[in-house]
Amino acid sequence: MNSARQKIVNLLEQAIGLNVDTVSDSTFRQAVQHRMNALHLDDIETYVQMVTSSTDELSLLTEEVVVPETWFFRHKESFNILIDRILQAKQHSRHFLFRILSLPCSTGEEPYSVIMALLQAGINPDHVYVKAVDISKRALAIAQRGVYGKNSFRSKELSFRDTFFKQVDKKFAIRESIRTKVHFTQGNITDPTFTESLGRFDIIFCRNILIYFGSKTQKKVIDGLHTLLVQGGMLFTGHAEANLFLDGRFLRSPHADSFAFLKRNPNVVVEKKQEPAPLNTEMESPAAKRLPAKPRLRTKKPKPKLPDPVPSPSTAKDEDSFETVLLIADAGKLEEAAVACEKHLQESGPSSRWYYLLGVIRDSLGQSEAAVGLLRKALYLDPEHEESLFLLSLLAEQTGEHAKAVYYRRRARKIRQREE
Ligand SMILES: C[S@@+](CC[C@H](N)C(=O)[O-])C[C@H]1O[C@@H](n2cnc3c(N)ncnc32)[C@H](O)[C@@H]1O
Repeated sequence: MNSARQKIVNLLEQAIGLNVDTVSDSTFRQAVQHRMNALHLDDIETYVQMVTSSTDELSLLTEEVVVPETWFFRHKESFNILIDRILQAKQHSRHFLFRILSLPCSTGEEPYSVIMALLQAGINPDHVYVKAVDISKRALAIAQRGVYGKNSFRSKELSFRDTFFKQVDKKFAIRESIRTKVHFTQGNITDPTFTESLGRFDIIFCRNILIYFGSKTQKKVIDGLHTLLVQGGMLFTGHAEANLFLDGRFLRSPHADSFAFLKRNPNVVVEKKQEPAPLNTEMESPAAKRLPAKPRLRTKKPKPKLPDPVPSPSTAKDEDSFETVLLIADAGKLEEAAVACEKHLQESGPSSRWYYLLGVIRDSLGQSEAAVGLLRKALYLDPEHEESLFLLSLLAEQTGEHAKAVYYRRRARKIRQREE
């Protein structure tokens, strides 16, 4: 069974980039069992032969293991920034056309949210061409139908549902004028021949997929996204994936919570270690004027069983110093920002968010070992410090410590699921 399992794991990794460690063992077993039941097989070796030789069977197994989790206006801030960017282009020309890619689009909530965001902002959707791609035929069939249940509406603010949907029994059908604005296609993000064929885009949404890939595939996909994006184009990624884009080719948006990046001009690209990118680099977009950006602030106390030290509470003065250090980091003066963080920690005592901030700065300076130490300190004070968990998982991934990366990611995901 083990070698058969390994063959299927390898096949999935090769075909769709999936790192099976990122899905639970029971999900994986159930997926294989489900396919074997459908084929009336009870011998796994026979199934391995079948899935190895049939692309149709591999597609069906893929359907069982992918995670189609998504909802309308997931991470709303991304859509606000998108609108800012489009409004800015509109100021310069009345005849602009933005090419937008949603990859992966899953069941369509993300690309439809783009069109709804435009309509809400009073922008004619004829100014955009929206392409939406996913590997799952099952997800795409739902997307093209455009009929959704309550799981797709998880945001607090739901007035858009009354405006853009028609209720059909207990479900909601998206308005035809929106449905026909999105161009859906099936495709594999890990296949460069396919991604190359899509053309170039001004905006790319590539959210919540890289977390399911191993580091080699992540790198390959990011190379592909870099090619797909026009110079100065904007890319939105998932919150747990943002650090993967700090490789010198992208500029981070000024909003720590936006997970948006701009494609750098290659003529001004410098080695990350020689001249690190600022944490929050100024962009042209009006969105940039909404500084200062902040890592999410936490004031939670450590669990009682933890010994000293106790994190210092967040006071107005503390808030001011935090913002000041962020502004120094924003200006690209990372060494100076690091010294200011250390001074603050010395004077005011341990604090998870300050350790986290210093960890992010050290990581941006290319000092990943120091960053890991600091993030662990943040976790010691606040075992539920989600951002530290995610950054630790990415840093572990970078050093090839996959089991550790998975461990941190699972912890972080549990917290996120509780919060959502
Ligand atoms: C968690 S959803 C993300 C949807 C949306 N971007 C969001 O953030 O809400 C992940 C999607 O990735 C798709 N997927 C997985 N592997 C893929 C691949 N190699 N190429 C294209 N899509 C893939 C899955 O089918 C699934 O629909």
